[in-house]
Amino acid sequence: MVNLTINGVAIEVEEGVTIMEAAKRNHINIPSLCYLENIHKVGVCRVCSVEVEGARNMQAACNTAVRPGMVVHTNTERLRQYRRVLYELMLSDHSQDCLSCVRNQTCEFQALGRLLGVDASRFEGARSQYHVDASVSITRDMSKCILCRRCVTACGHIQEACVLAPQNRGFDTEISPAMSLPIGSVNCAFCGQCTVVCPVGALSATDATMKVWAALGKTDKRRVVQVAPAVRVAIGEEFGMAPGSRVTGKLAAALRRLGFDDVFDTNFAADLTIIEEGTELIHRLQNALTGKKAVLPMITSCSPGWIKYVENHFPEQLGHLSTCKSPHMMMGAVVKSYYAEKIGRKPEDMYMVSVMPCTAKKFEIAREEMKNNGVQNVDAVITTRELGDMIKAAGIDFANLPDEDFDNPLGMSTGAADIFGITGGVMEAALRTVYELVTGRELPFVALHVPSLLTLTQVKEAEVTFENVLPAFSFLAGVTAKLAVTSGLAGAHKLLEQIEKGESPYHFIEVMGCPGGCITGGGQPRSKDPEVRIKRLSGLYSEDESKVIRKSHDNPYIQALYKDFLGEPNGHLSHELLHTHYVRRGMFNELSGVSYSVEPNAAMKRKAKPKQSDAGVVSEAPRQDSGEQAAMSMHLMEIEAENARLKSQLDDANETMEILKSVLKKNR
Ligand code: SF4
Ligand code: SF4
Ligand code: SF4
Ligand code: FES
Repeated sequence: MVNLTINGVAIEVEEGVTIMEAAKRNHINIPSLCYLENIHKVGVCRVCSVEVEGARNMQAACNTAVRPGMVVHTNTERLRQYRRVLYELMLSDHSQDCLSCVRNQTCEFQALGRLLGVDASRFEGARSQYHVDASVSITRDMSKCILCRRCVTACGHIQEACVLAPQNRGFDTEISPAMSLPIGSVNCAFCGQCTVVCPVGALSATDATMKVWAALGKTDKRRVVQVAPAVRVAIGEEFGMAPGSRVTGKLAAALRRLGFDDVFDTNFAADLTIIEEGTELIHRLQNALTGKKAVLPMITSCSPGWIKYVENHFPEQLGHLSTCKSPHMMMGAVVKSYYAEKIGRKPEDMYMVSVMPCTAKKFEIAREEMKNNGVQNVDAVITTRELGDMIKAAGIDFANLPDEDFDNPLGMSTGAADIFGITGGVMEAALRTVYELVTGRELPFVALHVPSLLTLTQVKEAEVTFENVLPAFSFLAGVTAKLAVTSGLAGAHKLLEQIEKGESPYHFIEVMGCPGGCITGGGQPRSKDPEVRIKRLSGLYSEDESKVIRKSHDNPYIQALYKDFLGEPNGHLSHELLHTHYVRRGMFNELSGVSYSVEPNAAMKRKAKPKQSDAGVVSEAPRQDSGEQAAMSMHLMEIEAENARLKSQLDDANETMEILKSVLKKNR
């Protein structure tokens, strides 16, 4: 143990603890900016500087370990002045666009300014000029970046995707993909983990709320919404509730009050996914065990960030991915076919919105493969954070809403679907169904939980042996299925390398693109609670255990869907609506044939003059010179729509300016 003094208080902590942690444990808060508990303590901003008696210079509390006998001061006049000057220097090269900034009122830089009592910067000088780099999923506005490098840690060290890194030096430093390429043209998985840790408005999920508000105003459309499992244990945080609070009923009530005609549950489609994916797994195993061609291990395909990662980094391994669409895409396809038919509407009359914990889903819906008969399966994706904003904007008192149910026939789900939101959940849900289908008996684990899959470990393993199988599945008699689960792209990389080398011992692998699974997706509320993952995880397990039906194949509405519409699992109609294929992209999309123009688009030009030569400023408009490029057409349309919106805003501003000018003239 180490004994020291902070602000005159005697403190004892373990060796290796930082001054910041020691102070916090003793109820002393030290201002900080770049530091993020358990994630990032590289000490770049120096806002947390403290005075240590006997030391020549101030020390960064977030990355200086305590030493025996240390005498630390955290709140002297010298420190207060120093922190204010640091802040003013950062502010002197910051866009200060707070009123229209996505992080207004939730911005850590803004909050720090209030804490330090700074209301203006005394420093004038050169200002960096940046364009806004907007992809379908992630938007970068580097005029708001404070160079804390949290995103570099999230992308490079946690996800090991290494898309973002500091480019250039000194005043010209910019955090960006290599060669300042637009984020949509590189190997970004769109997982959004960088947007969760960014303390300011520099990195954010590309906003779709305006699009959804506009759709809600269109009464000629049937406005349908669905909610992913992980949203129900996180959205409460947007309204001051504890992480993991189960607010499923309030969520359904809020969506109805926002004006949606049908409030469906992605959980229903998660049950459907289990039937389709479980059947696909059994077919692959049957082929492999009877000497036919089969690609094993089969890997889950629910996580679009993970899918894009394979397409970019391991395009030769795409055959291992299940062909199942992700649950919300299945729901979109079912809503625009089965449900549209039921209510006598055309597919194109249905407007489908998905509320997701995930930023990559925004990219997923724009994929050309996610259409049936030319109609997009899902029209818009908003994240949990965006839905929180919409509920607040609509003046809905979320915390005091009554609990309501989802609408049927696409609103009922089982406990197996709830755990889709947690790492290991899809695997456990699949086992509950596959094991029972093959043996006629329940999965032999207490409370249907596979013990080795219940942790947040990066790579988890399990085995299940099929004994006393039903006659139709005799090929599986005595077979031990080897299973692996990982969440986060770093773990996925390890498992894919094994596959590439032909050393993978597994039959079935579950991969989720974000560490911990969808509970910590890139679109979930930002939290500084180090226990947030555990709390949301417990919330979803409680949701599962509270259900009367906990196995997907027992969902009566799923049974009705097959009986009345789809026919059989993996049948012809299922393949048409619920399955898909993937695109070989390569690191810079070079395999997909998609190339990118190097002209800044109109929005970028208006926003600011480029910092470097135009050669480094790239719009995402793909040239349509190959069949594959059609996959980007939706993306292009969205960019054009955004350009049109910005143009109309500019026209409005010009008009207002003309009115003001004429008023001034009159008053002279
Ligand atoms: S990042 Fe923060 S300080 Fe900067 S403009 Fe946005 S809200 Fe204001
Ligand atoms: S979205 Fe994910 S992969 Fe892309 S830059 Fe951010 S952290 Fe990296
Ligand atoms: S983009 Fe955000 S997280 Fe990354 S360095 Fe800039 S401010 Fe920090
Ligand atoms: S918070 Fe310690 S250096 Fe930034």
